[in-house]
Amino acid sequence: MADVRSKAVVSFILLAIVSCLRALAQEHEPPREPLGLPPIIWPEENPYTPEKAELGRLLYFDKRLSSDGSVACATCHNPANAFTDGAAVSTGIKGQKGGRSAPTVINRAYSLAQFWDGRAATLEEQAKGPIANPIEMTSDADAAAAHRACVERLRAVPGYVDRFDKVFGTREFTIDHVAKAIATFERTVLSGNAPFDKYKAGDKTAMSEDQVRGMKVFFDKATCDRCHIGFNFTDGSYENIGIGMDKPEPDLGRYLITKREKEKGAFKTPTLREIEHTAPYMHDGSLKTLEDVVEHYDKGGIKNPNLHERIKPLNLTKQDKADLVSFLKALSGEGWRHVKAPGPNELPR
Ligand code: HEC
Ligand code: HEC
Repeated sequence: MADVRSKAVVSFILLAIVSCLRALAQEHEPPREPLGLPPIIWPEENPYTPEKAELGRLLYFDKRLSSDGSVACATCHNPANAFTDGAAVSTGIKGQKGGRSAPTVINRAYSLAQFWDGRAATLEEQAKGPIANPIEMTSDADAAAAHRACVERLRAVPGYVDRFDKVFGTREFTIDHVAKAIATFERTVLSGNAPFDKYKAGDKTAMSEDQVRGMKVFFDKATCDRCHIGFNFTDGSYENIGIGMDKPEPDLGRYLITKREKEKGAFKTPTLREIEHTAPYMHDGSLKTLEDVVEHYDKGGIKNPNLHERIKPLNLTKQDKADLVSFLKALSGEGWRHVKAPGPNELPR
C-alpha cells in the first residue's frame, strides 16, 4: 500500500515538474501566429527571445532614439492607427515632412524587402534607416554620426545598458544590437484570424453576404490577386499602378534603386491586412478612403508609359464597388492590438 502511495506521490511530483518546465519553455517561445498566417522564420543571426522582443518594444516607443528627443518609431507607426500615422506623409523632427506615407509595421516579418521601394533587405537593416534620416529622427550630418550619437544617448541610460547586457551579453552595444532588438519586436506584430481567415478555414458565417460577394469581385472580376496574393495579400513585387504619375515631378519609386527604366513609378505591392485602419492610402497617401482606392482601380489607374498591363478599366457596378470595400474590411484581424506603449515609468532610466 505504502509503496503504491509513494509511487503516486513521486509521479505527481514528476508531472508537476514537467508541466512547470513546459510552461517555462513556452514563455521563451515567440507568440503563436494567428489563424491564416504561416510560422515566422526567425533569422539565424537574430533569433527570438522574449527579453529581446521586450527591449525592442521599449526602444520602439522611446523618443530618445531621435536626436532632439521628439520622435519615436511609434510616432509614425502608432499602434492606435494600426502601426501607421494616419497622415498622407509623415512628420519627423522639427516638424519636417517627408515625401512618403508611413506603411504599417504589421506582418513585416513575412517580407524581406522593406520600404516602398524595397531598398532595405531586412528589418534589421530597415530599423537603422530612420535613425539616420535627417527628416525623420536626426539632425546629425551623416548616417555614421547619427548612429553613433543614438548609441551614446542609449549607453548613458543605465537601465538600457543592463538590458542590452542581459539580451546580447555586452554592455558595449552598437547600433546593430539596437536594430536587432527592434526587428525582433516588429516580428511579433502580426495580423491574422480575420473574418476572411475564419471563412477560409470553414466557418461560412464569418463573413457577411456582401463580403462574400466582394471576395468574388476581388479574386474573379477585378483580379486584385494578380498582385495582392497569398496569406499576406502581396506577392512582394514592384508595380506601377499610376499613383502620383500625373504630378510634374513624380516619385519614381523602385527606379531610384534599380535604375531600370521600366520600374519608373513602380512601388512595392503592400499587404491589405488591416487596410481598414491604415488610411490614407498609397505611397503618397493621396487616396483618402477605400472607396477612393476602388475608384482608382475601376477607372484604370493613372495613365503613364509604365502602367501595369492589368491596370485598366474594370467596369465594376456600384454594387461590386461597395461589396469590394466590404471584403477589404474582412481582412481586419488580431495579433497586434495587445501591443501597448510603455507607461511613463516603464522606460529605462
Ligand atoms: C518621421 C516618421 C517616421 C519615423 C520616426 C519612423 N518611420 Fe518607419 N517609415 C516611415 C515612412 C514614411 C516609411 C516609408 C519610407 C519609404 O518607403 O521610403 C517608413 C517605412 C518603414 C518600414 C517599412 C515598411 C514596409 O512596408 O516596407 C518599417 C518596417 C519601418 N518604417 C519601421 C520603423 C522603425 C523601426 C522606426 C524607428 C527606428 C521607424 N520606422 C521610424 C516613417 C517613419
Ligand atoms: C498590378 C498589381 C496590382 C493590382 C492588380 C492591384 N494592386 Fe493594389 N496595389 C498595388 C501597388 C503596387 C500598390 C502601391 C502603389 C503605390 O503606392 O504607388 C497598391 C496599393 C493598394 C492599396 C493601398 C495600400 C496601402 O497600404 O496604402 C489598396 C487598398 C489596394 N492596392 C487594393 C487593391 C484592390 C482592391 C485591387 C483590385 C481592384 C488591387 N489593389 C489591384 C498593386 C496592385
